[in-house]
Formats: sequence, structure tokens, C-alpha cells
Amino acid sequence: MTATWVSVLAAYLHLLAVATYVGGSIAMELILGPAQRFVPPAQAQILAQKSADRFLVLVWSSLALLPASGMLLFFSLSDQSLVTSGGIFSTGAGRTLLAMMALWAVLVANGAVITFVLRPRLASRTSASGGRAAAGAQLQAMSRAATWVSRLTRVDLVVALVVVLLGASLAYGNGIL
Ligand code: HEM
Repeated sequence: MTATWVSVLAAYLHLLAVATYVGGSIAMELILGPAQRFVPPAQAQILAQKSADRFLVLVWSSLALLPASGMLLFFSLSDQSLVTSGGIFSTGAGRTLLAMMALWAVLVANGAVITFVLRPRLASRTSASGGRAAAGAQLQAMSRAATWVSRLTRVDLVVALVVVLLGASLAYGNGIL
């Protein structure tokens, strides 16, 4: 049995990361998003960009902390035989933990698409040098990128809420898969 303080620290960091990721996503989606509709479009765009810049730092910190603290939790606190006895696929707890890790990978993949593909498109400035047609095409590309950011953010929130359910089923039962 590993020292209790390691379990406490692991659980503390895991829950802190979950609270930051899920709480932050809910605040962005249900509070900041709707409030932006009451602001003129140009200002709303700046507000969205600046708040997303800051929120992405929290997102990536949480995504990095989750597997580290989760593994520490697993090795220090959980009854590991519940997960590993007879192979990780053969127990409900094992399948639940694998599903959590797979869904975490989905959050990372979506986060990478938003950070490295879609956000640079949103941040690019329209220039008049290419003419009206080019500026129009660029605005369309930015609007498509904004739509995809919003879709992926919603998918991430649903995925994260499912992982919270899986985590709770693991902490207070034998997993649900
Ligand atoms: C690779 C990624 C992850 C690993 C290895 C992992 C590992 C674990 C483990 C082993 C537990 C159970 C501890 C116990 O038996 O008491 C747990 C609990 C939990 N996990 Fe994760 N996890 C990961 C990602 C996530 C993500 C992405 C979320 C949600 C966004 C999440 C939310 C939770 C919650 C809410 C609990 C229950 C905590 C409690 O009530 O004590 N986990 N996790």
C-alpha cells in the first residue's frame, strides 16, 4: 500500500483537473458564448479570441494533468486486481479505465485540431490586397473554422461528461462497461 498522502495528492490533482476542464468548458459554452450575442460582432470576435487563448492554457494543463494524476491514483489507491485480474479487457473496471483513456485521447485530438488547425485560421487577418473576392473567401473560411471550433467544443464537453461518469463508476463501483 503506497502512502496515503500520495493517494490524496493524486485524487486532489485529478479532481482539480476535471473541475478546471469541465467547469471551464461549461462556463465558455453556457455563459460566455450566449453573452457574446449581445456584443457587436467585431468586439465579440476579439472577446472570443482572447478568452479562448487563455482557456486553452487551462485546457492543455488539465489534459496533461489528467493521465499523470490518473495513473498515480491507479497505482496508489485503487484495488488494482479489480482492473487487471485475468487481463484488463476481461473486467468491467478494466474496460472502463481503457474507455476513459481512449476518450481522453479524443479530447487531446480535438484540442490539437482546435489549437493548431482551426485557431490559426480564425486569427488570420483579412487583407484587401487580394481584392474583394479573396477577402470574401477568407471571411468564409474563418466563419467555417468558427463553426467547427464550436462543434468540437460541444463534442468535447459531452465526451468529458461521459468520462466523469466512467470515473465515478470506477471510484464508487467496479466500472460500468
Ligand atoms: C488517461 C486518462 C485518465 C486516467 C488514466 C484516469 C484514471 C482514473 C482512475 C484510476 C480513477 C479511479 C480511482 C479510484 O479507483 O478511486 C479515476 C477517477 C476519476 N476520473 Fe479519471 N482518468 C483519466 C482521465 C479522466 C478524464 C479525462 C476525466 C474527466 C474529464 C476523468 C474523471 C474522473 C473522475 C470524475 C473520477 C472519480 C474521482 C472520484 O470521485 O474520486 N478522468 N480516473
